[in-house]
Amino acid sequence: MNVNQLTQSFDLDSWSAKGLAEIETALNKWIPPGAPANLSEVMKYAVLGGGKRLRSLLVLGAFEVGIHHQDPLESAWRREAALRVACAIELIHAYSLVHDDMPCMDNDVIRRGKPTVHVKFGEAMALLTGDTLQALAFEVLTPEHSLIPDALQGKLCGLIARAAGHSGMAGGQAIDLTSVGQVLSEAKLSHMHQLKTGALLEASVLAGAMCAGVTAETLAKLKIFGSSLGLAFQVVDDILDVTADSAVLGKTPGKDADTDKPTYVSLMGLDAAKHKADVLLVQANQALLNSDLTHTDALVAIALRVVNRSY
Ligand code: IPE
Ligand code: IPE
Ligand code: MG
Ligand code: MG
Ligand code: MG
Repeated sequence: MNVNQLTQSFDLDSWSAKGLAEIETALNKWIPPGAPANLSEVMKYAVLGGGKRLRSLLVLGAFEVGIHHQDPLESAWRREAALRVACAIELIHAYSLVHDDMPCMDNDVIRRGKPTVHVKFGEAMALLTGDTLQALAFEVLTPEHSLIPDALQGKLCGLIARAAGHSGMAGGQAIDLTSVGQVLSEAKLSHMHQLKTGALLEASVLAGAMCAGVTAETLAKLKIFGSSLGLAFQVVDDILDVTADSAVLGKTPGKDADTDKPTYVSLMGLDAAKHKADVLLVQANQALLNSDLTHTDALVAIALRVVNRSY
């Protein structure tokens, strides 16, 4: 089956509806109600009621590749692990958005169609909410009473910490801020994008598959898919900053050019950036279609959504 046939035959929304609803319910439950000051309210504002949940979809899609032939008890704790991973990654992603929007970073006032966290609650609360969300992600990954083996919990924490920290998202954000006004080579730009955005998407794929208990060989194949798609995601984000309308995008478009950020569009122009995203999509999906992995239809459909999205 090729990529176009899959677009027609796989209903991603029906496939993911139950899993995404469970993730939303769990996020709501795991954001503690009684945190000091109004931290609980701010955390909920930042995390719930918005967001495309693309990282969650990747966790679910990669889990699907590996979760077969287990006994019911094992299958139950593996599913719980995947749910926890999806929530943890959404929490870290939400924290990265809260900080990314602050005046000391991108200085944005709209996110997910609402005032940004610092606009609504002040800068200090935004800073602390980001900190709190990141810590909460690791609390969610390490439940006190659970059948999820400690070794798996530890591995997932390590993977996600590396994707969020200096060698991933935060490192990429540091490059982003120090690259304002510069013309980066494509190699440098793709490195920045891989870190600031790609790392967390790649980790979503790998962690979802690890919850299912796949082999190291399968993980290696999924890593190629995840890293290509992770870069494609940020190339599309760069494109949407130029082409999308504010009401659809839910954030202020045109910011990258206004603030002189190096992007795929500023480096190579809109058409070449679109072509780059398409090439990366083919690269990602070929990594799956050329492999002997089965149950990859959901991942292929998610990849199509990442690249063809309008917001
Ligand atoms: C936006 O991510 C920030 C980037 C990493 C480019 P998303 O486009 O996934 O944001 P939400 O979660 O859907 O709001
Ligand atoms: C941010 O990239 C990536 C993050 C790690 C949050 P951008 O700054 O381009 O994301 P948007 O466009 O504000 O969502
Ligand atoms: Mg930014
Ligand atoms: Mg930004
Ligand atoms: Mg952007």
